[in-house]
Amino acid sequence: MSDIAALNHAASILAKLAPGDRADTALRGYFEAHRYLQPSARRAVSHAIFVYFRWISWLDPKASAQKRLEQADDLQKRFDTDPKSAKPETLAIRAVPAWVWEEVALPDAETKAAYLRQLQRDPALWLRARPGQAKALVKSLAAGELAPTFSIQDSEFRVQGPNSTQNPELQTLNLIATDGVRFTGVQDLFKTEQFKTGEFEIQDLASQLVGIACAPKPGETWWDTCAGEGGKTLHLCDLMQNKGVVWASDRHSGRLETLKRRTSRAKLFNYRAALWDGSPRLPTKAKFDGILVDAPCSGVGTWQRNPQARWTSSLNDVTELAVTQLALLNQVANSLKPGGRLVYSVCTLTRRETTGVTEAFSAAHPELEPDPVFGPSGGATTTLWPHEFNANGMFLAAWRRKKG
Ligand SMILES: C[S@@+](CC[C@H](N)C(=O)[O-])C[C@H]1O[C@@H](n2cnc3c(N)ncnc32)[C@H](O)[C@@H]1O
Repeated sequence: MSDIAALNHAASILAKLAPGDRADTALRGYFEAHRYLQPSARRAVSHAIFVYFRWISWLDPKASAQKRLEQADDLQKRFDTDPKSAKPETLAIRAVPAWVWEEVALPDAETKAAYLRQLQRDPALWLRARPGQAKALVKSLAAGELAPTFSIQDSEFRVQGPNSTQNPELQTLNLIATDGVRFTGVQDLFKTEQFKTGEFEIQDLASQLVGIACAPKPGETWWDTCAGEGGKTLHLCDLMQNKGVVWASDRHSGRLETLKRRTSRAKLFNYRAALWDGSPRLPTKAKFDGILVDAPCSGVGTWQRNPQARWTSSLNDVTELAVTQLALLNQVANSLKPGGRLVYSVCTLTRRETTGVTEAFSAAHPELEPDPVFGPSGGATTTLWPHEFNANGMFLAAWRRKKG
């Protein structure tokens, strides 16, 4: 599809988008109604919409939707050719809402510039191969002529820019996140035989690192409390080699139905799905070796992938979601066995939802002790920054229930 045709489709979508409507939902609806659009055309239209929201503060509000889409496209092309042409001071004011600077702390001007420039790039697409199968997956996809577009993740994120050395744990993560594969092509991955037979999932690298932080062992009993459509449940089940059990709960039954379809495709059967809305009425009285609270959050860490969310979430959401996160952690703490591990993850970077929640939770739970997130020598909290990983931003914390 030509650039012009993609912009025409995108303009039709924008014209119907009312304030408060989600662009990704509108895109899904549009593609349902225009089934003839091929995957590559759909990608081009989605890209035009995402680029629009990335550069929206630069656009002339009086211009037509078509014109604004063209302006955004030009800005993106100029930025891609020369990222330094975008001044960090300007990005700090226009690329994100002002409230974020009350909440997101970056250590110095250079890091802030790297973070902001990362937000203006197209996001990377990550696949998660089955444990230990990344090289085999790349090889088998290569047989389908997808070869030049794949690369094994661990050779990728050593070169994430000048700031990678600021996170002392990067080196360790480099060694352990080897099931991640970055895809840079345009083919429809959902149509590949490898996807249909469960040889890989599409999962952001930061989310993959949450499963790795949990480090569940075969035969253990885990509870994925906010399992949603099961991205992390699948990973936990897989790391447990189909042995033991993962309780997967969520407040939305529709999401759990999707989870069931995904586990069946991946031939993973060591899970039990249950509705749970965060209330004191827990889905089971069982005690767990490990619990993951992948909590609902403001999603600031996803702003590169979902730029419209920059303009729809607010400080109020941050405050309310921090309360929900703390309540969820409090509800499940007592379900840990002595020695059991609790992992908290949020794809956000705000102070209130990250350290604010973990400090309040730690203070209220002397029966738990902070536990390293990754590897025995790491810290009990860690932030995965988009500019360091070429992935979503994510915050993780871990505790262990004291024995005796
Ligand atoms: C960050 S998403 C989970 C993503 C999922 N773990 C994955 O990897 O695909 C948070 C989930 O929490 C669920 N949720 C929100 N509030 C909840 C509550 N009070 N109790 C249980 N689940 C809740 C939402 O339905 C949503 O699916």
